[in-house]
Amino acid sequence: MKKITKICCIGAGYVGGPTMSVIANKCPHIVVTVVDINEDRIAQWNTPNLDNLPIYEPGLKEIVRESRGKNLFFSTEVDKAIDEAQMIFISVNTPTKTYGKGKGQAADLKFVELCARNIAKVAKEDKIVVEKSTLPVRTAEAIKNILDHTGNGVAFEILSNPEFLAEGTAIDDLLNADRVLIGGDDTPTGKAAKNALSKIYENWLPKERILQTNVWSSELSKLVANAFLAQRVSSINSISALCEKTDANIAEISRAIGFDSRIGPKFLNASVGFGGSCFQKDILNLVYIARSFGLKEVADYWEHVVMMNDFQKRRFANHIIQTLYNTVSGKKIVLYGWAFKKDTNDTRESAAIHVADALMEERAELVIYDPKVSEDRIYADLDYLETRSPAENRALLKVVSDPTEASREAHAIAVVTEWDEFKSYDWTKIYELMLKPAFVFDGRRILDTQKMRQIGFNYYKIGEA
Ligand code: UDX
Ligand code: UDX
Repeated sequence: MKKITKICCIGAGYVGGPTMSVIANKCPHIVVTVVDINEDRIAQWNTPNLDNLPIYEPGLKEIVRESRGKNLFFSTEVDKAIDEAQMIFISVNTPTKTYGKGKGQAADLKFVELCARNIAKVAKEDKIVVEKSTLPVRTAEAIKNILDHTGNGVAFEILSNPEFLAEGTAIDDLLNADRVLIGGDDTPTGKAAKNALSKIYENWLPKERILQTNVWSSELSKLVANAFLAQRVSSINSISALCEKTDANIAEISRAIGFDSRIGPKFLNASVGFGGSCFQKDILNLVYIARSFGLKEVADYWEHVVMMNDFQKRRFANHIIQTLYNTVSGKKIVLYGWAFKKDTNDTRESAAIHVADALMEERAELVIYDPKVSEDRIYADLDYLETRSPAENRALLKVVSDPTEASREAHAIAVVTEWDEFKSYDWTKIYELMLKPAFVFDGRRILDTQKMRQIGFNYYKIGEA
C-alpha cells in the first residue's frame, strides 16, 4: 500500500467540510482536497471572510483559517482530485427516498452510486475508498461491485468509516472522538487499508480509541448508535407527557434516573422533539432493513421511536392552540429558534418546521427569529412540505432579526431551539410589549419557571404540569 499523501473528499457538507478541515489541520503532511458539484458551496468554503463559510460550527473558522490554502483545498474539480488522491472519502448526502420502492424509509443511494461510478471512470491507480456517508448495511458491497466491474483494472479497497460528530459540537467531537470506527475486509489488503486510515486518525487520537471491525458491523453500528440516542430522547419525551398529567417533574426524573451509572446522565433532556439529518433517517433505514429481512417485530419496535417523536411535536403545537382558547387564527405567535438544535444553522427535520406548519394550518400569524438561520432557508423548509403555496407561506409567516421587537403585540412566544442567547433576553421588556395575557411555551426547558411567572407570564415548560 502506497503512503497516503493526498486525500480527496467528495461532498463539502456538514460532515465532509468539518471532518476534512480537522484531518488537514492535524496532518500537515497530507494534502486534503474537498470537492463538491455545487459551485456556490465551494465558493462559500473559499470565501475570504470566514464568517461566510457555508456552515456554522463553533471553532470551524479558526481551523479553516489555519489550514486553507496550505494543505486544505476546496474545489469543484472532482475528477482531478480523485485522480491525484490515494484515499477518497465519499461524504455525499443520502436522503430518505421520496419515490419508488422504499419511499419514505429507505436511503436514496443515487449520489453514492454516482460517486462510485465517477471514481471507477477516473482512477488509474489503486485506491482506498472510504464511505463516510451513513449508509444502509451492505452498501460497501454495492460500491465494490461497481468499482470492480467498471474500473480500469485498478484495485480498490472499500472501508466504512461512519461519522459520529454531532452538529454544534462537530469540531470538539472530531478532536476528542470517543471512538473512530473503521470497517473493512479481513484480507491482507483490507487490513492494510484499515491500518492506513487508522494511521491518519492516530495523528491526534490514541490508538485504543480506533476500532477495527468488518464492513457490515461498522455500517450497522452507525445506524444503531443513532437509533439508541434517538430512542433515549423519545423515551424521555414520552415521560414528559405523563409528567404534565401528574405532579412529577421531568427534570427531576432525568436527574434521578441519570444518577444510575448504568443509565447515565446524557441525552435525557425532554424537548419539543428531535430533529437533524440523521436520527429519523437512520431509524427509518433500520426499520426498512429489518422489514426487508422479515423481522416485523424489530421493525415495529424501532419505528415507534419516530412515532413518539411525531407525537411530541404535534402535542406541543396542540398545547399552544388549546391554551390560546382553542383558536390561534389571526394571532401573532413568535417562534424563538428554527435550527434543529443550538449552535448550528442546520434546519433539516427541525421540530420548528412541524410546529410552525401545524400553527399555520390554524391560520396563526407567525414571526420567526433564529440567530443563524436565513430567511430563504426558513421559507424553503416550509415550501418543501407542500402544505400550502409558497405565496401563502410568505403571507402567514415573517422572518425578523430583532427578537425583542418581534414580541410587540404578540399573543405568545414559543421557544423551539435552545440557543443560549434566549436565556439572557430582557424578558420584562418582552412582557411589556406583548398582549396580555402573555404566553410563553418553552419547548426546550431553558427558562426559569419562577422568574417567568414572577414577571407575569403564563409560562409553560414541556414536561411540567
Ligand atoms: C451527509 C448525510 O446526510 C449523512 O448521512 C452522512 O453521514 C454524510 O453526508 P451532510 O454532510 O450533512 O451529511 O450532507 P450535506 O450537507 O447535504 O452535504 C453533502 C454534499 O455533497 C453537498 O454539498 C452536495 O452538493 C455534495 N454532493 C452530492 C456532491 O458533491 N456530489 C454528488 O453527487 C452529490
Ligand atoms: C447525531 C448524533 O449525536 C451523532 O453522533 C451522529 O453523527 C449524527 O446524529 P446531531 O443530529 O448532529 O448528531 O445532534 P444531536 O446532538 O445528536 O441531537 C439530535 C436531536 O436530538 C436534536 O434535535 C436535539 O435537540 C435533540 N435532543 C438531544 C433532545 O431533544 N434531547 C436530548 O437530550 C438530546
